[in-house]
Amino acid sequence: TGRLRPRMALRSSGISVTPILADLQKNCATPLPVLRHVADAMAADMRAGLAVEGGSDLKMILSYVNSLPTGNEKGLFYALDLGGTNFRVLRVQLGGKEERVIDTEFEQVSIPEELMFGTSEELFDFIASRLARFVEKEGGRFCLPHGRKREIGFTFSFPVKQTSIDSGILIKWTKGFAVSGTAGKDVVACLNEAMERQELNMRVSALVNDTVGTLAGARYWDDDAMVAVILGTGTNACYVERMDAIPKLPDQTLNSRRTIINTEWGAFSNGLPLTEFDRDMDAASINPGEQIFEKTISGMYLGEIVRRILYKMAKADDLFGDAIPEKFSKPFILRTPDLCAMQQDSSDDLEAVGLILNNTIGVASNLNARKVVLEVCDTIVKRGGRLAGAGIVGILQKMEEDSKGVVFGKRTVVAMDGGLYEHYPQYRSYLQDAVTELLGSEISKNVIIEHSKDGSGIGAALLAASNSKYGH
Ligand code: GLC
Repeated sequence: TGRLRPRMALRSSGISVTPILADLQKNCATPLPVLRHVADAMAADMRAGLAVEGGSDLKMILSYVNSLPTGNEKGLFYALDLGGTNFRVLRVQLGGKEERVIDTEFEQVSIPEELMFGTSEELFDFIASRLARFVEKEGGRFCLPHGRKREIGFTFSFPVKQTSIDSGILIKWTKGFAVSGTAGKDVVACLNEAMERQELNMRVSALVNDTVGTLAGARYWDDDAMVAVILGTGTNACYVERMDAIPKLPDQTLNSRRTIINTEWGAFSNGLPLTEFDRDMDAASINPGEQIFEKTISGMYLGEIVRRILYKMAKADDLFGDAIPEKFSKPFILRTPDLCAMQQDSSDDLEAVGLILNNTIGVASNLNARKVVLEVCDTIVKRGGRLAGAGIVGILQKMEEDSKGVVFGKRTVVAMDGGLYEHYPQYRSYLQDAVTELLGSEISKNVIIEHSKDGSGIGAALLAASNSKYGH
């Protein structure tokens, strides 16, 4: 396109900017008005989703968690976490206000790829068998009062229509899972049946989304935690909502003033700065047209977006000479952790960047090509981080509008977790920048965005404790 000045030198890196790169940077730009639009649209979609079932892209799911942990929870509880590339089991001995977490142990297993495309029974049998193995290794430091069943908090990080705190129906899979026979079923029943097949006698006391688990875990340590956001394989957010701000509530008899809403914000799509690469990736995905926000900002997709851009540059601009290796065309061969590793290379010759390009997409690169690659990574990561920040401000804005001063007028904590947030410093700082730009420096002093590491596991165990059938 002749509209843009091609091969204009980028001041920061001294590379020549081709039309593809210039277009990309223009289409991915997130200046303040774009961020503001996204934040406003997020708040408006939240309202629409709370008004009526199916009222917006955002499902605004009731979690049936009407009270968050207080610190008084006591006893031995388990948590089980299924939601991304890993599956985790955890046990924790809770000691009440004074002793808090007396002891904890966990195990992590990566989900064999074929299980993501298998049947529901196969997946749940795998989970139950790993859980059974883990329970067998319970040492004497953990103690379950006589005559009690072991209780589990089940973190299941997919859109679930909750029917109570301990039951819920899978609406659809996300994040590359395509297991047959689970959608439309109660996932707790699926787990219970698999546990029976393993002769494992445990009870699911709480079924929670990972965002809800994270918020519960964060609130255990900090009374000001009001919002939780996951930025990992996928992305989502939950927050504390007032019952009287949920017109779609089936009955107003719930005797609580507040509850936690799981927004499922990954499905948001309003006013995002998207490119041909995003559209092509979406069209080729197993859930086209769905989870657009997630596909723009979360860990599963950033690497793939960059691969698609580089592939086009390789073909059109000979970015890596004329050889285009076979594996370069393979979807998802370049992963977000690879982008992150490349962006940490600050050496003059960018040797680490060259190595990673070689190991992943199989190309040789000169210094200019490496700089272009870093520029592309930065463009996509910056867009992702800033849009995530705008999403967070949208939620805070909605809460503030309904309860003047209660959010912005005092310390408010947004608990963050997920591998992308945890391991990608550039992403994290772009996110924080956007929040500060949108809120202004005064208000943003009150909004604390902080990592709550593995809060979701402990959080699910805490919710199992507060919903224990034995009381607490
Ligand atoms: C996906 C799931 C959502 C989950 C998020 C983060 O968006 O639909 O339930 O919370 O990923 O794991």
